[in-house]
Amino acid sequence: MNSLCTSLGRKALFSLEPEDAHAFTLATLNTLYATGISRLVFPQPKVQAVQLMGLTFPNRIGLAAGADKNGECINGFGALGFGFLELGGVTPRPQPGNDKPRVFRLPQVNGLINRLGFNNHGVQALVQNLSRFRSSGGYQGVIGVNLGKNKDTPNEKALDDYRLCYEQLYSFIDFATINVSSPNTQGLRALQETEELRIILSGMKAAQARLADQHGKYVPLSVKIAPDLTELQLEAIAQLAIAERIDAITATNTTTGRETVADLLYGQESGGLSGAPLFSRSNQIIRNLAKLLDGALPIIGVGGVMSGADAKLKLDCGASLVQFYTGLIYRGPQLVTESIKSCSSM
Ligand SMILES: Cc1cc2nc3c(=O)[nH]c(=O)nc-3n(C[C@H](O)[C@H](O)[C@H](O)COP(=O)(O)O)c2cc1C
Repeated sequence: MNSLCTSLGRKALFSLEPEDAHAFTLATLNTLYATGISRLVFPQPKVQAVQLMGLTFPNRIGLAAGADKNGECINGFGALGFGFLELGGVTPRPQPGNDKPRVFRLPQVNGLINRLGFNNHGVQALVQNLSRFRSSGGYQGVIGVNLGKNKDTPNEKALDDYRLCYEQLYSFIDFATINVSSPNTQGLRALQETEELRIILSGMKAAQARLADQHGKYVPLSVKIAPDLTELQLEAIAQLAIAERIDAITATNTTTGRETVADLLYGQESGGLSGAPLFSRSNQIIRNLAKLLDGALPIIGVGGVMSGADAKLKLDCGASLVQFYTGLIYRGPQLVTESIKSCSSM
């Protein structure tokens, strides 16, 4: 019955343009939550909570960045059972993103290419939504935000953008992710180079110390990396993250590689490829990173999870938490329950 509903739902959604399907999904999830139906239709397996970065995660499964860029569907997504949600990417000022069409489904391989380019309503809108959410209650899991920079902010000033968003959001969030790995903002990935990254990470850690003092609350920082790094680059990032006492690494963002999809319809579109075609590449990065970090800091594993077994494999590669986004598009809400079960002790 569940899988019949999923396949019917997917058929209907896939008849819409990807961005219209997304807007429809958010509205539906909010309605299901508001009417109390979510509680009846989305089972919540009871599992042991996990302590990480000083936070208590009800389970190890999270919603990856990009699905709720403006914090408009916190209770809707939360009701699917996620232990944590990463909202955003958010930038200081609102921006429209790239021209449409900019999201392409690759259904033969459960993949997706997007070149949205940080379309979002700006940090103030997210603060307002979070503030409303915090005063009304609802979702009890962990809430993080993915921090980006505006398209017209030069890389030399990127720290200012990340810091401004972090400061504005600080009292409303549980963790923040510094996104230096979106392929859709020109030059952003250059911020993963050692000297550029050192400036950003040390600047953010200084802000964290100041804000923790001011608010009497510590908001951990993760840094999100690309799957397209060389081993040398990965090693340098791992060393830097340890030296700067960053709280976690999120691996990985979407890939610019097209090896497995080049012959498919839309397979050559520019942007970031997510979903199943990213799975093994992102797992390789997680495995290498786990060796380099040797337990010094946790890894949030993301990229291509399509089943509970895939989520478990992320843990086996060395991740402590798992996120997905594209899998939700292809598999529907049952992927959340399935992943929670296979990644937790009951
Ligand atoms: C439509 C779309 C928008 C995304 N937006 C962001 C974003 O704003 N910030 C970010 O760090 N990652 C973003 N991502 C990347 C995801 O968070 C995730 O790292 C990537 O899609 C791989 O996971 P998946 O295969 O489970 O989707 C986006 C992905 C998609 C598909």
